[in-house]
Amino acid sequence: MSDRFDAEVQAHAEDSIQREVFGTRLGFILAAVGSAVGLGNMWRFSYTASEGGGAAFVFLYVILTLIIGIPIMLAEFAAGRKSRRSPIGALREAGGPKWIPVAFFYVGAGFLILSYYSVIAGWVVRYAFEAITIGFPADAGAHFEAISTGPQAMSYHLLFMIFTVIIVMGGVEKGIERASSLMMPALFFILVGLAAWAFTLDGAGAGYAAYLQPQWGDLLDGGTFASAAAQAFFSLSLGMGAMLTFASYLSKDENLNREAVVISFADFLVAFIAGLVVFPIVFALGLQGAVSESTVGALFIALPGAFAEMSGGRIIGSLFFLALMVGALTSAISLLEVVVASIIDEFDIPRKKAALGAGTLIALFGLLSASSLDTLGLIDAVAGELFLVIGGLGLAILVGYRMKGAREELEKGASPLFRKLIPVVFVFLRYIVPPIVIFVIYDRLMNVWSVIQTTYLGG
Ligand code: PHE
Repeated sequence: MSDRFDAEVQAHAEDSIQREVFGTRLGFILAAVGSAVGLGNMWRFSYTASEGGGAAFVFLYVILTLIIGIPIMLAEFAAGRKSRRSPIGALREAGGPKWIPVAFFYVGAGFLILSYYSVIAGWVVRYAFEAITIGFPADAGAHFEAISTGPQAMSYHLLFMIFTVIIVMGGVEKGIERASSLMMPALFFILVGLAAWAFTLDGAGAGYAAYLQPQWGDLLDGGTFASAAAQAFFSLSLGMGAMLTFASYLSKDENLNREAVVISFADFLVAFIAGLVVFPIVFALGLQGAVSESTVGALFIALPGAFAEMSGGRIIGSLFFLALMVGALTSAISLLEVVVASIIDEFDIPRKKAALGAGTLIALFGLLSASSLDTLGLIDAVAGELFLVIGGLGLAILVGYRMKGAREELEKGASPLFRKLIPVVFVFLRYIVPPIVIFVIYDRLMNVWSVIQTTYLGG
């Protein structure tokens, strides 16, 4: 008995020596917020809200964050911190070898999402760079058409992948934590400043109305519900092991419950504020037509068009795209980290090699998305939506029903209030999350099918 105990203690000690850890609690939070805050916040949230009920959508989104987002995030935290392993090892430990295929789904999602995310981020880098050096183009629509696919898109995509790989090569504390700690506060201040400025524009009111005017009837629509849920998954980086992997680098018994609330709230706040920037600007210049053309329309056509016309638009626009770039970079880091951490843990390959190898493969695969917007859209529908909800369902079932010690893991460091709420989290993981997520999986599956039909089968 005592031998076994000694061996366990020693194994744990060795583990702690080898495994990288976050330097501080704030560093962990900023890295997780960095993962969550990204293109999804500034590009998809306000657009989806304006299409699906305005303030009613925002309300639904907050509810869904509370009832499915936070429980799944806690499930990821528990599995990651307890095992101190990346997804493959964590799921193997929590559920046995049968669960390993689910983890491959996670690594696959990280790979696929990063492959197209980086193409969009490449457009952002280009807009930021051009805004600073030459200003915004007079015809934003034509410009976007020229740069969004082909060699132009490829080169910026590759450049963005290089940034991402360099940071991940630096490791958890010196790469990811340091980058997030510098960049996230900057992003937040820029965004708040821009929202305050947007408030002063003539026509801002019409923008707020288009973004937030509540249409409660929209909530009865199953499609709105499913897109709000899918948006929550994507925005909170759930269902593919990003939060799990970050939690595996926590050395101390921090209150995971409190961190999940802080991270989710910060993510929502940034998404909400980004809408307060985007909509007034677009409406002040009467460019609303460009918003409804497509999801990327608002960001890459309407906004740049507005920046080109308004006084001070170049400075404002440069700041906006810089903030967007920062958000995209800290999210991309976490996507790559899931793949890299799995390679390090499973094959014992050193971090630098793993990051370089995985980054190269993802960059190459991304060339597909950089050559066709249809391909990009399809991979987004499959990996960015469907995979995440499937992954989330798997995790809710694993941690809710099967994993031993999950409750104790969440109890560590929990204040009395959070301790009382932990049983509620398990009730949600068991009974509330699965039926809701199964509905969303069905809806997103139909969506993938309709994307295939319209883009490839000419339907
Ligand atoms: N949450 C990120 C965003 O909103 C995207 C992301 C999804 C990152 C999944 C990691 C994992 O842009």
